[in-house]
Amino acid sequence: MKKRVLVTGGAGFIGSNFCNLKSDVYDVVALDNLFLGSPKNLNSNTKFVQGDACNLEDLQQCGDTFDAVIHLAGTSSAPMFMDDGFADGYVNSVESFVRSIEFARQSGANKFIYASTSSLYGNNPIPLLEDQDVTPPNHYAVTKFCYEHCARCYHQVYPELDIVGFRFMSVYGPNEESKGRYANMISQFLWDIARDLPPVIYGDGEQFRDFTNVADIVQAMELAIETPAGFGNKVYNIGRGESTSFNDIFKTLNAALGKDIEPIYIPNPVKEGYVKGQHADISLIQEELGYQPTVTLKQGIGALVQDLDLAKIRETSSDSLRSN
Ligand SMILES: NC(=O)c1ccc[n+]([C@@H]2O[C@H](COP(=O)([O-])OP(=O)(O)OC[C@H]3O[C@@H](n4cnc5c(N)ncnc54)[C@H](O)[C@@H]3O)[C@@H](O)[C@H]2O)c1
Repeated sequence: MKKRVLVTGGAGFIGSNFCNLKSDVYDVVALDNLFLGSPKNLNSNTKFVQGDACNLEDLQQCGDTFDAVIHLAGTSSAPMFMDDGFADGYVNSVESFVRSIEFARQSGANKFIYASTSSLYGNNPIPLLEDQDVTPPNHYAVTKFCYEHCARCYHQVYPELDIVGFRFMSVYGPNEESKGRYANMISQFLWDIARDLPPVIYGDGEQFRDFTNVADIVQAMELAIETPAGFGNKVYNIGRGESTSFNDIFKTLNAALGKDIEPIYIPNPVKEGYVKGQHADISLIQEELGYQPTVTLKQGIGALVQDLDLAKIRETSSDSLRSN
C-alpha cells in the first residue's frame, strides 16, 4: 500500500513539484489556502483540499491518517513581512507550523518534514554549515528559527515523531508563475528577458546564491520519508554546494533565449540583512540521507526555457523589491 503524505502549501511552487513528481509513489493530499498557490499547478493524481493549515478542521478535511506530513505552507519570503504584511506574516507562519505538527502527530504520522531556510545564516562565513551560530537577519528568517526551536522542544515531549527541517538554499524550477514577484531570481530574470524587459539588479550583480533545482528538493524530501523511523529531530542544508552570481545567471539566460538584454543596476534598496553570498556545505545530508544533487544549473535553466509559457505568469515587476 502507498504511504499517505499530506503536503501543506501543496499547490505552491515546491509543494506542487513534490506532489506532481511523487504522486505515483505516494498517496498525496495537497492542502493550500491559495494565498499564492494555484490548483492548476497540480496533476490530477493529487487530491487537492482548499483550506488553511492554521485551522485544525481544514487539516482534518485532508484525511484521518497519514504516514508523513510535509509542512510548506506559510509566509514564504522576506518581502511579504514588510509594512502591512508584518503581523499576518508571523501569525500565518507560526500558527500553521504548530497546527500542522500537532495534526501530524494526531494523524499517526511518524515523519514531520518542514521548510526552514538558508536565510537564517545571513552573512555567515561560507560554506554554510548547520552547526554555525545563526542570528536570523529578518522577520521571515525569525519565523523559521522559531520552527527549528519549536521542533526541538516538541521532539523532547513526543520522541516517537521524527522531525526533519530543511534549510533550502535558493530554489528554482517549474511552477513558480503563481509566485509572481516573489519567485526566484532565475525565473524573474527569465520572464523579463523573454519579454524584452531589462531586469533590475541590486548592487553590482556579483552577489551569489547556491541555486538548487526543485527536483533535488523533492529528492531530499523523499529520502526523509523513506529513512527508517527513529532518527530524531534533524536540520539539514539542501543545496548543490555550488554558487553562481546574478551576473552569470543573467548571461546564461540571455544566451539560452538568444537575447542580448542589458540589465539595469541600481543601489541596493534592501535595508534588512541583505545576503551577499550563499554557498552550502551539504556533507551532512549526503552522509545521513544519501542526498546527491542531480540537476545542473545548465540543465535546470534549459528546461525552464523550453517550457516557458509567459501567459501563466501572475504578476511581476522588473523594478519591484526582489525577493532574494
Ligand atoms: N523557494 C525557495 O527558494 C525557498 C527557500 C527557503 C525556504 N522556502 C520555504 O519553503 C516553503 C515553500 O516555499 P515555496 O517557494 O513553494 O513558496 P510558495 O509561496 O509557492 O508556497 C507556499 C504555499 O503555501 C500556501 N499557504 C500560505 N499560507 C497558508 C496557510 N495558512 N494554509 C495553507 N496554505 C498556505 C500558499 O498559497 C502557497 O501555495 C515556504 O515555507 C518557504 O518559506 C522556500
